[in-house]
Amino acid sequence: MKRLKLGVLASGGGTNLQSIIDRSLDGSISADVILVVSNNSKAKALVRAANNGIDALHISAAKEGSAEGADNRIVAEMVSRGVDLVVLAGYMKKIGPELLNAYNGKIINIHPALLPKFGGDGMFGMRVHEAVVAAEEKESGPTVHYVDEIYDHGSIAGQMKVPVYSGDTPEELQERVLVKEHELYPQVIQKIAEEWE
Ligand code: GRF
Repeated sequence: MKRLKLGVLASGGGTNLQSIIDRSLDGSISADVILVVSNNSKAKALVRAANNGIDALHISAAKEGSAEGADNRIVAEMVSRGVDLVVLAGYMKKIGPELLNAYNGKIINIHPALLPKFGGDGMFGMRVHEAVVAAEEKESGPTVHYVDEIYDHGSIAGQMKVPVYSGDTPEELQERVLVKEHELYPQVIQKIAEEWE
């Protein structure tokens, strides 16, 4: 089986990144994180990468002069390292056409609700869980999907469900979903590695 080279884009805490690194190191997935890129110089994800000896780069539109410049730089860094699959793990920037074209069908994202419900522009972070609680949904859970030019729109690669209890706060729900994200993302990456041609 091919061992996939992963390039991870992350803007924040990077707990999903960590779960992928951990499953890579313990041998349960046939993949290695070889590059982590963040638009946020203070992202804990960059620290997690450095702590694990993984190349960590801060690439932003401000630094590169434009969003397009940042996207081109990301593509160059990914391609020069032979990245196979681009993994978005809490990345708060829209993916531009340069990256979408270079990694067509090879970019995945994790969203903290059961798409196609509770997705789209502006649906991120706690807003998602607030909306799920307000709608009195009985279940929620993470979705991993392929990325295209529309937010939260590409085909679904995997989902896991958790119950939503009456009286749940959005924070409680977020925590329950995040535990499942950490299971689901490595699982989907392993499936992609098994099916890789
Ligand atoms: C997760 O909730 C994920 O679903 C969303 O952003 C969050 C990232 O969390 N896309 P972390 O940085 O991996 O801890």
